[in-house]
Amino acid sequence: MPSARPVPSALRPLVAAAAALVAVALVAAGSLASLATPARALSPGVVLTSDFESGLDGWQARGAASVSTTATGARGTGSLLVQDRVDPWDGALIPVTDVFEPGTTYTIGLWLRLPDGAGTADLRVSVQRDLDGQPSYETVTTVEGVSSQWRQVTATYTPGLFDTASLYVESVSSPADVMVDDVLVSGVRYTPDLSLTPVADAVSVPFGIAVEPQDLLGGRGDLLAHHAEQITPGNQMKPDAIQPTEGTFTFAAADGLVDWALEHDMRVYGHTLLWHQQTPAWFFQRDGAALTTSSADQALLRERLRTHIEAVADHYRETYGEYGTPGNPVFAFDVVNEVIDENQPDGLRRSEWYRVLGPSYIADAFRYARDAFGPEVQLFINDYNSEYPDKRAPYLRLVTDLLAQGVPVDGVGHQLHVEVGRSVPMIEDTIEAFEALDVTQAVTELDVSTYRHEGEQWTTPPADRLLEQGYYYRDVLDMLERHASSLESITVWGLEDSRTWLRSGAAPLLFDGALQAKPAYWGIVDPSRIGTTPTPTVTQTPGVTPTVTSTPGVTPTVTPTPGVTPTVTPTPGVTPTVTPTPGVTPTPGVTPTVTPTPGVTRGCRVVYTTNDWNTGFTAGVRVTNTGTSALSGWALTFSLDGGQRVTQGWSASWTQSGARVTATNAAWNGSLAPGGSVEIGFNGSHPGSNPRPTSFALDGVPCAVA
Ligand code: XIL
Repeated sequence: MPSARPVPSALRPLVAAAAALVAVALVAAGSLASLATPARALSPGVVLTSDFESGLDGWQARGAASVSTTATGARGTGSLLVQDRVDPWDGALIPVTDVFEPGTTYTIGLWLRLPDGAGTADLRVSVQRDLDGQPSYETVTTVEGVSSQWRQVTATYTPGLFDTASLYVESVSSPADVMVDDVLVSGVRYTPDLSLTPVADAVSVPFGIAVEPQDLLGGRGDLLAHHAEQITPGNQMKPDAIQPTEGTFTFAAADGLVDWALEHDMRVYGHTLLWHQQTPAWFFQRDGAALTTSSADQALLRERLRTHIEAVADHYRETYGEYGTPGNPVFAFDVVNEVIDENQPDGLRRSEWYRVLGPSYIADAFRYARDAFGPEVQLFINDYNSEYPDKRAPYLRLVTDLLAQGVPVDGVGHQLHVEVGRSVPMIEDTIEAFEALDVTQAVTELDVSTYRHEGEQWTTPPADRLLEQGYYYRDVLDMLERHASSLESITVWGLEDSRTWLRSGAAPLLFDGALQAKPAYWGIVDPSRIGTTPTPTVTQTPGVTPTVTSTPGVTPTVTPTPGVTPTVTPTPGVTPTVTPTPGVTPTPGVTPTVTPTPGVTRGCRVVYTTNDWNTGFTAGVRVTNTGTSALSGWALTFSLDGGQRVTQGWSASWTQSGARVTATNAAWNGSLAPGGSVEIGFNGSHPGSNPRPTSFALDGVPCAVA
């Protein structure tokens, strides 16, 4: 599989892995053609391949479309041609009921193009899952601006439960004919070792794990059920999940988790009724305009808060029976989350809640919650960094004040998002400080990043850091055990390292991405084995192995997987080639002036999305060339005006000078055809708020911002 271009260093292992996967396929079945039938026999690597060299390989028409094979291939001499499409969902499908296993992550690679002269179209790779007669349609990836050039697409997908499922190619809106080739689906099902001592048995306080729906399935579900005795929904009970628009309540995702907890005899810790993040904007608007501090607007926001809390409380009572009875596993709820800001004179965060209502909203939220849930659900306040003395003081003051006013606060949560080495005595001081109050406490979101600071970066933590993490978990748990009688529960924020909310490589949890126990697990369960038990250090997401196979003259497009941060380590000798664009003379620090070239229009479109947390964020930037000529080498510039810093970027080479950020193409994504897009991204830190950049320029040409 010779590559036409130098392969960027970070992709070399992926190319090797892709080659290995293809090799598995070839060896297992003799020839690609005979792999037409989806076969589990190929596991653990490749589960499906179709090359259309000698037939349809099991592919069928979807909807009104018709399918046939052509004599043009991406790499061989045949491909699948989809014609007679009328609606966007007309396309080509292959049944994957016997190929996919719920909860396993698959890497889906394929090649797409339109026939000659068909212009461009935005295509989609999707999965239809049917469960109990209900279909759900899930986008695996959207591929913008597909033209008559072959485009390689790689994306990952983790199926949920299904009775039947199919993988299909459709479009966003265009009814254009579509060509498909060289489909390769791979996935690895990891099996946890269920002979290990459950963490819950080693901890005298009820042990919980924060979960996402994928964590309940397959081997991950087995691991969760084995070790936890309580779960916290990671996102599904937040205001944006439960009431995305006013009066529309969507409980299905959360109920899936609660049902599972019930089936597995576990408790549910609810999270969260009020927060400044993941709360829809409508809460704070009237007819689209921001609420003011008028008494009418204050009354409206209070009413919305009460309605929201009552709807949640009523739902779980109506669905599972009265709180405190065996059918209802919900035993606690975070009522308010992260309301402290130690940098404010009164120690309270300046959120929209605070802006409209002032400090009173906190007591109101607890009173509404007590009225709605009754006495059986423990009502918590929850915050991060509570171990730092500066934050501990206003937290303690607030809870003391609330209790003095008779506000029904039952518990104080300490998130404990920490890194190896954060002072354990400092954490203990905080727990002891709250022991003086009439409250219970909980560790609500424990994770221990192996990164000590932003400057560190790796794909897999060094072995000694993983050992250190093991000792750190031991020390934290030893300390917590001394305060067991003050603690309602200890929850870790995630099941295994491939799905942490922290940046890639942080590896903050007890199990690695292959579901194997890390030294961190032994730190809790049997510290004598921290250093003696060989522990795999696989932390990558199962199955995330983009198939990067180059055809001379074709630039492979590697679509980054959400949540997976490819680490691009510059290697001497592999310098991204930046070909200067005619007419553009870049001057350092100055926005280049663009001299128009007759007959050539230049333009770009940028979609900038972020996922924010306390003081960090992940940004995704999709850049589309909307001009009439192809770019070979490009540079995107924009400003981060809120004091944000880029800490780690991917799919481009990233530099920051003051507020100004420049992303220059990587070696493999410099060519940008008209209509073509690249997706790049970075992790950043922010000082508390994260204003979006308002303008972007590609090679100095201002971009439309979507
Ligand atoms: C995180 C989730 O884990 C992520 O999936 C989501 O994108 C952002 O929120 N403090 C909290 C949690 O209280 O709700 C946050 O959860 C992590 C920080």
